[in-house]
Amino acid sequence: MGLNQKMLDSLQAGSSIRKMFEEGEKRSKLYGAEQVFDFSLGNPVFEPPKEVHQAIAQVLTEDKKGLHRYMPNAGLPEVRRFLAAQLKKETGLDFRQTDLIMTVGAGGGLNVALKALLNPGEEVIVFSPYFVEYDAYIQNHGGIPIQVPTQIDFHLDLAALERAISKKTKALIINSPNNPTGVVYSKEELAALGELLRHKAQTFGSGITLLSDEPYRRIAYVDEVPSILAAYPNSVIVTSYSKDLALPGERIGYLAISPQHAERELLFQVASVALRILGFVNAPAIWQRVLPLVGNAMVDLTPYRQNRDALVRGLRAAGYEVTQPEGAFYLFPKSPNPDDAAFVAEAQAENLLLVPGRAFARPGYFRIAYCVEPKKVQGALPLFARLMARYQTARPQP
Ligand SMILES: Cc1ncc(COP(=O)(O)O)c(C=O)c1O
Repeated sequence: MGLNQKMLDSLQAGSSIRKMFEEGEKRSKLYGAEQVFDFSLGNPVFEPPKEVHQAIAQVLTEDKKGLHRYMPNAGLPEVRRFLAAQLKKETGLDFRQTDLIMTVGAGGGLNVALKALLNPGEEVIVFSPYFVEYDAYIQNHGGIPIQVPTQIDFHLDLAALERAISKKTKALIINSPNNPTGVVYSKEELAALGELLRHKAQTFGSGITLLSDEPYRRIAYVDEVPSILAAYPNSVIVTSYSKDLALPGERIGYLAISPQHAERELLFQVASVALRILGFVNAPAIWQRVLPLVGNAMVDLTPYRQNRDALVRGLRAAGYEVTQPEGAFYLFPKSPNPDDAAFVAEAQAENLLLVPGRAFARPGYFRIAYCVEPKKVQGALPLFARLMARYQTARPQP
């Protein structure tokens, strides 16, 4: 059959996250959902806040014609105006509706941004460990992903970044709070990143765009998630409501171009065309209309914080090395077995479903997605302890 070879290859490789998710469904049928501890996918088990359901009801019962029609590709002007005002209030920057494009989730937004930016062969820097789909998104648009490892604490390694930037560098993707580590980049770290990018762009006489992938921005356990906007002018934010409103299946988000971006207006126009010709045409109409009605409502962070605390405490007590997450709902402990895939397979045999670090370009670790009921965490902790016990050498006798 004459199918696309790259796609056939990716079918073969598959996504370990999705595979594990499917394994979870299979095992739930086989053993009963109570017996399966599925930490594979960042798919929140909690329902969206009640404001979302009230807003949908309101949109659908209003006596308004044309709710379901095509619209400007960038999205409904009144919704973009609402979001621009929100961003202006948060950042102090003069966001206008023509800086915003409504997108089909953050994944859609990243593809739109990359389509708008990349020429074939241009490079996009990603910081490992990172969300696996970035590679595919970059390659979709002829770009080349360049991996720069983060430091041992998963913060940016600016010396490594400096070595990786070349005249072919068109963009960087950062993600804070981070999937899979939960790390939040500090203001100083972002300022230093911005400084380095300004210097490099000047050296190479090129435009480097900083793409900030922020679907976890409001899922944080610290007081502040510093923004890239203050750190670097040529920045673009991509975000969605998949996580903070628990709406991943609805595919709604937006892309915001910094008012300080050197090609602010042209980028908006090109990205609007990219959205159309990628076949999205525009983001889902009903969900756009819901957003201004929902205002600042968001999911309750209590169970996430509870899960994070219980897991960090429990895993450390069992002997795991864990970095305390400051945001998102992921934990990225060191695998007791240097072969992370072998460890994940062992855990799977215990009905404990994890994702190996190699799926995020950082072997030797594993990821736990803890957007689950706290009782699942309680049930899983003894399994984690049992697995670790197999790796602990017998203590010397006194
Ligand atoms: C870091 C990161 N970026 C983007 C996405 C995609 O989000 P969306 O569902 O809004 O497309 C995810 C989803 O898990 C993610 O973890």
